[in-house]
Amino acid sequence: MFKIIIRDNYDEVSKEAFKIMKEVLNTGNPVLGLATGSSPVGLYKEMIADHQENGTSYKNILTFNLDEYCGLPRDHRESYWTFMHENLFNHIDIPDENVHVPLGNGDIKKNCRNYEKELKKHTVDIQVLGIGSDGHIAFNEPGCPFDSVTHEMPLTEQTRQDNARFFDGDINQVPVSAVTMGLASIMRAKKIILIATGENKAKAIRDMIEGPKTTDCPASVLQDHPDVTVIMDKQAAEKLTFARP
Ligand code: F6R
Repeated sequence: MFKIIIRDNYDEVSKEAFKIMKEVLNTGNPVLGLATGSSPVGLYKEMIADHQENGTSYKNILTFNLDEYCGLPRDHRESYWTFMHENLFNHIDIPDENVHVPLGNGDIKKNCRNYEKELKKHTVDIQVLGIGSDGHIAFNEPGCPFDSVTHEMPLTEQTRQDNARFFDGDINQVPVSAVTMGLASIMRAKKIILIATGENKAKAIRDMIEGPKTTDCPASVLQDHPDVTVIMDKQAAEKLTFARP
């Protein structure tokens, strides 16, 4: 079952996501599952403001990111390692050793095994997700099995087109694959919040919530998770049957 929150704009969506994050942060020292991309940036801004204004500390908090492009050096401006440092980690008091981002270079198979092994030692208390316009979560593209764990996934043309905006609008600069937590890895999280804004996400949101559970829409695996809150704007919700006027 999904809990659904629909708000007017991205700011309000981010504030709602932060409310849920804050409840989890208040429980002690949770393990956070984090995402990159445009969707969680507003949430991360709220977390930074809360750290600066209220002193919320991340000293004893562990984070695990969902994914990383293959083939980009860690210090590349578009690596997810760089993204997370610029958008969150550099602005809070989290120690470097508490941060986990998959490694998209070197022996990829070994990196995947090691990441899953480390992840399995912990329980993610709250997992932040975005959703791709093709229904992917993390970089689990259509066709990816529901029992997948951390693995290398070729990116679809659609995803590379969507993400070309970060690479000077040039799809050829977008990596062709990524290391990603699998769908089964994500499903182990205790609580999940999925953030989606814009009409580009409307079909994927409808397929995830109202469609059949099928690997054609990887996000539909979440239909089986006991605690998923989808926080979205009206544009992302516009294809949902029950949300129509
Ligand atoms: C990123 C990730 C992806 C994005 C998705 C949406 O870590 O896992 O699944 O969440 O591609 O991206 P945005 O938020 O940029 O629309």
